[in-house]
Amino acid sequence: MTVDARELLEVARAAAAEAGKLLVEGRPADLGVAQTKSSPTDVVTEMDTAAERIIRAAIRRHRPEDGFLGEEGGSESGTSGVRWVVDPIDGTVNYLYGLPAWAVSIGAEADGVALAGVVLAPQLGEEYTAVRGEGSWLGGRRLRANEPDGLAQSLVATGFGYRAERREVQGRIVAGLIGQVRDIRRGGSAALDLCSVATGRVDAYFERGTHAWDRSAGGLIAEEAGARVEGFHGAPASEAMVLAAGSALFPALHGALAALGADDRDY
Ligand code: IPD
Repeated sequence: MTVDARELLEVARAAAAEAGKLLVEGRPADLGVAQTKSSPTDVVTEMDTAAERIIRAAIRRHRPEDGFLGEEGGSESGTSGVRWVVDPIDGTVNYLYGLPAWAVSIGAEADGVALAGVVLAPQLGEEYTAVRGEGSWLGGRRLRANEPDGLAQSLVATGFGYRAERREVQGRIVAGLIGQVRDIRRGGSAALDLCSVATGRVDAYFERGTHAWDRSAGGLIAEEAGARVEGFHGAPASEAMVLAAGSALFPALHGALAALGADDRDY
């Protein structure tokens, strides 16, 4: 079966636009908490659930035979070989607090490989897109990840998990890293962090604890901008680790993180 990745991208863009509109225009003043996941700070808003429903319906209209994995709705297998990996709001806490760095993230994958993806940040007015093999784009601008002059010159983004115990370990790792790099950033949306690697707004990003829906579209966008996006020791990016950086910086950051025990600790 041949898949037209550009067609998948257009389906993704249309679905993201619908969801983005709902999320901006429909954000209630007294934004409520629909449910909580692993801890009270992992807030899943009612809007999150509503946006995923819209995305699912928009995709189904065009591609009823595809599978679906959404942060809020679990998974559904399809028969076409294509699976959509969706985070209706990546950066839920930013959204909840009224910070603009949140995004609708939609990736289309075949056999676990992302073919097309969109990360739409409506309040930043930014739409990032990529099709495998055809580069990544911010609106009409082709993206290229930075190749900074060594680890010490690198601006490194990261994120922290929802569980306090994990955050404490992550904080210690960052404390060990911060003196070795230019500085650290914590934006609050893994998808946008990956896009920031693609644009060169940061030089690298790493995090333990992300999910497939946080990484699918943004990972492709970073890769198509020339970054390496992997886990530790040649493993693919996974919940255990996603590390994204230009090819010269990647080994230096990987080495620094491994030396800090980021690869082997039970956290
Ligand atoms: C979270 C954000 C955050 C990252 C967390 C993610 P969510 O996604 O991407 O930046 O640090 O690991 O879970 O919960 O807002 O969709």
